[in-house]
Amino acid sequence: MPQDQSSTNPSPSGPLTAVYAHNSTSDPKIVHQAIAPIVGKGFDTARCRYLSSWGHLLTPTAEYRPCGHYLSPLDASFKRAIILRSAIPLPASDALGAVLGAMLDQMGEGSEVWIESPKASNPANTWVTIEQLASWFPSCQVDDQPNKAKHWLRVSWSPQLQSDLDALGSIYPKLAGRLDEFAEMLEDSEHPCEDPKKSFTNSIIGSFVYSMHWALHTHGAIKKITQAMGQSGPMKILDIGGSYGFLTCELAACGHHATNLEMIEYRIDQVLPWMVEATGVHGRVDGVAKRMEELEGIEESLDMICFMGSLLCIDRDDVSGVLARASKLLKPGGLIVLRENMLLPENAANAANHEERFTADELHRHLQTINPDVFYLDHLGHQRTPEEATKLWTLFAAVQKQPKHTQYQPTVTVPNTKQEMSS
Ligand SMILES: C[S@@+](CC[C@H](N)C(=O)[O-])C[C@H]1O[C@@H](n2cnc3c(N)ncnc32)[C@H](O)[C@@H]1O
Repeated sequence: MPQDQSSTNPSPSGPLTAVYAHNSTSDPKIVHQAIAPIVGKGFDTARCRYLSSWGHLLTPTAEYRPCGHYLSPLDASFKRAIILRSAIPLPASDALGAVLGAMLDQMGEGSEVWIESPKASNPANTWVTIEQLASWFPSCQVDDQPNKAKHWLRVSWSPQLQSDLDALGSIYPKLAGRLDEFAEMLEDSEHPCEDPKKSFTNSIIGSFVYSMHWALHTHGAIKKITQAMGQSGPMKILDIGGSYGFLTCELAACGHHATNLEMIEYRIDQVLPWMVEATGVHGRVDGVAKRMEELEGIEESLDMICFMGSLLCIDRDDVSGVLARASKLLKPGGLIVLRENMLLPENAANAANHEERFTADELHRHLQTINPDVFYLDHLGHQRTPEEATKLWTLFAAVQKQPKHTQYQPTVTVPNTKQEMSS
């Protein structure tokens, strides 16, 4: 195993390489084999810094330090970032483009991002393509180095990178360098955290990284869902339980009008205005400090309602009622989109998960009370059948409220989960 040179030796001279590996790739030898086509055989591994895209799932070691998903601590000492296959788990979308572009921006002149990609034969295995990279980065050089089993895709920094980033419509490049300011603002807002900068989890930085990650992820999924359903143009969106407003502002940056409905007041009164200012989405964001159950007077006015990890924060027994209420707020044809981390056999050993998470079946039955057709995507934005969705840890689901003339009367009864689980 390579040693953690950064803590024991002086920094090696020359630029560093950031390698983003999925946490299941725990052996550095495998990582080095994988990156050999890019870095060459004589590459000095002391110049590598390893980053896991799923920090919180990984036990940190000297070699693998969580970077808080892919929200990386890159700076001008790096000149190359290598992303092993799907190690930045975002649907291929403008949101992914914004992350890749922000990396180039952080590393600066002369930098490049390499992406490992399988030779596309099975569409369910494909990820980002060279055509997408070229469309996100018209000012940059984009090329492709194919070898036997895969392609290596490369995007190089350009002096006009900023204009490419602006066109992508994401708040991430604007917020990526403002973590400290975000932390100060939250401390001033009496963020209920004892030592907010101390650790990754339960810290301000952890909150930033976690919510930002899911906002980008959900942005990517929403693009795929609306494309698949033939919807385009600006939408009126309600982000239920939107917390600090990352998703709300991300959707506003894509041109939508978004409202953050959040029951914790300081998040709406103090944090959201900072977010709007920092991300320049004035006029397209509202905040409402209320419980979802108290929202009135906006029936049939919304194009989309998002629950980004927030459906399970609502009392389990109230979920059916909350979904029915959400459906009333939607225009006919409007969409409910949600992202949840699911209860799987692998994580069911932790008894708390039974209370906190849905099984795919349970979630499916709830969503079918709105429309029998539920649309699922996996974490990379590939469409999945309801059966395939039962195997996914993170899933995105969308249901469409039926147009008036075909409005669906649910016949599915949602069983009482607590009773079901205890029996
Ligand atoms: C798990 S957090 C998810 C936050 C946000 N969607 C994100 O991913 O960053 C759930 C949020 O929902 C809010 N919440 C819980 N129940 C709610 C309700 N009934 N009405 C409005 N907000 C609620 C909580 O205050 C919390 O901020």
